[in-house]
Amino acid sequence: MAKKVQDALKDLVSLCKRRGFIFPGSEIYDGLANTWDYGPYGVELKRNIKNLWWKRFVESRPDVLGLDSSILLNPRVWQASGHVSNFSDPLVDCKACHERFRADHLLEAKLGEGCTVGKNFQEIAQMMVDNQIECPKCGKKDFTEPRAFNLMFQTQLGVLEGTGSKVFLRPETAQGIFINFKNIMDNVRPKIPFGVGQIGKSFRNEITPGNFIFRTREFEQMELEFFCEPGTEKEWYDYWRKYCMDFVFGLGVTKEKLRLREHAKEELSHYSNGTSDIEYEFPFGWGELWGIASRTDYDLTQHQKESKVKMEYFDAVANKRYIPYVVEPSLGVDRLLLVLLCDAYDVETLENGEERVVLHFSPKVAPVKAAILPLVKKGKVKEVAEEIYQKLIQNFNVEYDETQSIGKRYRRQDELGTPFCITVDFDTIGEGDDVKPENKGMVTVRERDSMKQEHVKIEDLENWIFAHLK
Ligand code: GAP
Repeated sequence: MAKKVQDALKDLVSLCKRRGFIFPGSEIYDGLANTWDYGPYGVELKRNIKNLWWKRFVESRPDVLGLDSSILLNPRVWQASGHVSNFSDPLVDCKACHERFRADHLLEAKLGEGCTVGKNFQEIAQMMVDNQIECPKCGKKDFTEPRAFNLMFQTQLGVLEGTGSKVFLRPETAQGIFINFKNIMDNVRPKIPFGVGQIGKSFRNEITPGNFIFRTREFEQMELEFFCEPGTEKEWYDYWRKYCMDFVFGLGVTKEKLRLREHAKEELSHYSNGTSDIEYEFPFGWGELWGIASRTDYDLTQHQKESKVKMEYFDAVANKRYIPYVVEPSLGVDRLLLVLLCDAYDVETLENGEERVVLHFSPKVAPVKAAILPLVKKGKVKEVAEEIYQKLIQNFNVEYDETQSIGKRYRRQDELGTPFCITVDFDTIGEGDDVKPENKGMVTVRERDSMKQEHVKIEDLENWIFAHLK
């Protein structure tokens, strides 16, 4: 990783650890490279992302059903899908220092924006020579020929070793949906067009994982396979591209840092008649967030061939049979989480010259929705603050904090991205010197980004928070 990229991510990685979002994996055993564990705030953020996706792509849509298929599938699934023969990246070794790289990544780094690296290994080898690609580690220009490195993790099923028991950890959740197409058709009987959505772990033995949680070997995907009549796929492809873009905008991600990039012909997988990526401008450059692919009838046809089970749909109105076409929006949970972190992270200089680190999360995704901060940690003020906390925690992830000065407590919540801080004081209980009688029964809510404060009646707090989470 280049020095400046490390610097750009370093502060975010350190905040994530310091504030309990993301920890390096297996740390007490000196770690395990490129593995990460989600801490108490990271897991909340992740759950919010998954819930919002599920609500928008599955629950709120009468034309989409949910599924939760296995990670381990019959190995013939991966024969049929083409993963056994084709799911590989072009691996090259530097002959001088023996470091390994993905040839397409080296070319993309050298040729920059707008370059297209196809999938043909001979062409890639030629491009490496033509463009005088240097080893990022030692600077030499002497690489081995690119060779196919299959990304699937293998493991053993049961106690008997041998080819019969070899299985793969799924590299995508999509195939679990295709192999359940017949089950869903026969038992749930949806009408085309309809979709099946699923969230789950996927595994890829990436050659060059890195950039924090951008590319890891274990990650989660949120995938939708939308089945439609052949000939209508272009319409649905455009529809889902817009739908996905609107979803990301709705999470408050900076519009200027997002773009939709249509793949050039040479980039398309052999089964795709259209693929676009939603890309985000990460600290290390533009990178894929979400892939939206028109996959034709490739997957269902392949499974029909391999399993000998018919994957046709019968349209009773038109009295015709066909294998449906598929449009697939496929998104990584961890990838979206990284986008939200990068986009929210900010270091501001306040009027008094102090610095504050703040995560400007949309209230919808923020791991903690509100913090209750009593200005006095005893007597009736504390009692009322605790009552408010007990009531709010029934509906929202809220925190109670009475330690240290109010300024320090605000800073702590800013670093977590908590949108609302609720203070309880003598005015709230209407007791003490100089209290303002008009504020009795009210708390002060401080909004994270503007730092503006407003008085809200205790009995209105729940509704107030609900209204501000939209
Ligand atoms: N079923 C299609 C499919 O899996 P993909 O473009 O290989 O397509 C889809 O992956 C999404 O999954 C990507 O856009 C990205 O968000 C996420 N993803 C893929 N590989 C990843 C990795 N190694 N680490 C984290 N996220 C990954």
